[in-house]
Amino acid sequence: MITRLLSVKGDPREDPAVREAASLLRRGELVAFPTETVYGLGADAGNEDAVAKIFEAKNRPPDNPLIVHLADWEDVYRYCHEPDERLEALARAFWPGPLTLVLRAGSELRGTVCRGLETLAVRVPDHPVALALMREAGIALAAPSANLSGRPSPTKAAHVLHDLDGHIPLILDGGPCRVGIESTVLDLTGERPVVLRPGNVTAEDLERVCGTVCHHVSEAEMRKRSPGIRYRHYSPEAEIILLAPAVGPAAFQDLLRFLLAIGVERVGYIGERPLSLPSGWTSRVHHQVESPATLAVHLYDRLRSMDEVGVTTIVIDGLEETGLGVSIMDRLEKAAGTYVRTERELADFFQTHESLTMHPA
Ligand code: TXA
Ligand code: MG
Repeated sequence: MITRLLSVKGDPREDPAVREAASLLRRGELVAFPTETVYGLGADAGNEDAVAKIFEAKNRPPDNPLIVHLADWEDVYRYCHEPDERLEALARAFWPGPLTLVLRAGSELRGTVCRGLETLAVRVPDHPVALALMREAGIALAAPSANLSGRPSPTKAAHVLHDLDGHIPLILDGGPCRVGIESTVLDLTGERPVVLRPGNVTAEDLERVCGTVCHHVSEAEMRKRSPGIRYRHYSPEAEIILLAPAVGPAAFQDLLRFLLAIGVERVGYIGERPLSLPSGWTSRVHHQVESPATLAVHLYDRLRSMDEVGVTTIVIDGLEETGLGVSIMDRLEKAAGTYVRTERELADFFQTHESLTMHPA
């Protein structure tokens, strides 16, 4: 299959590329499209064969449910059984926008997107191309992030092409995504709303609208409510070493020297520290972080671009876990092979790696 990439410029409601994409979707084909968070891989949510193609193209585990995207939030009443009284307040406050709500599923889409769960995840994306596409097609779109399963989500059309070239007919290019990390997923099916995935809409934002929300559920509860959580996520090819803010500048320099000593030649770094590297690196890529919001926007692009230049180890400075920092740390902790919380843990890391290098199994 040949994958075409069409740019949408100007008013998407008048754009022939959007009309063509809508017609592909109505015929049961897949189309990748921009949202404000990340690019989505869309299919007609009511068409079983079309939805099956999503799982195939992404190599997505079959029990991982999909978010249904709507252009008009009132359509949610068509797909959910017992709409929740908190729904309307949240919809009015955050939709269109980067919030996904998990509700009790009605019968209409249960067989396609819910993958065995009794619940349905929905959101109204805040992107003119996504909205124009759904209105033109006249259907609800099932859409996961348009990456291969396990890879960082795509925030540019080129990322989608990299992962799915030859597997889907069309990518609509609407430029880079404004938010850069996936939507907040909030489960409204219990007495208290539960954050299943933190995102750009923070717990504080939510609590202003719907009262106390729960954001520390047990691993087991999380697995039951959201099967997707258990899979490896957001990972580039390179190994990520995530450092908590408690790891000071001297320890940071020790880590760089250590990596060089064990033979890492191409290193990447994402963080706020001035990078004065010991000499000897074949290549190094350094991305200065200005704020959590800019880190979110560029994070996946930076992880992907470091893979492109052959970086093998990426050191990343973690953030304080407040506001958007919670959401970014959620992604980084899942992507990182090693999370060093204290300088003590860094010393342990050196020891384990040294013995691995000196006495390879
Ligand atoms: O920002 C986003 O949410 C992007 C854009 C394209 O909208 N979509 C996205 O979809 O990130 P995906 O499939 O990559 O991640 C959706 C997450 C998965 O972890 C999935 O398991 C979870 O939401 N999810 C989907 N339906 C669910 C449900 N009924 N109950 C609990 N979790 C659900
Ligand atoms: Mg995803």
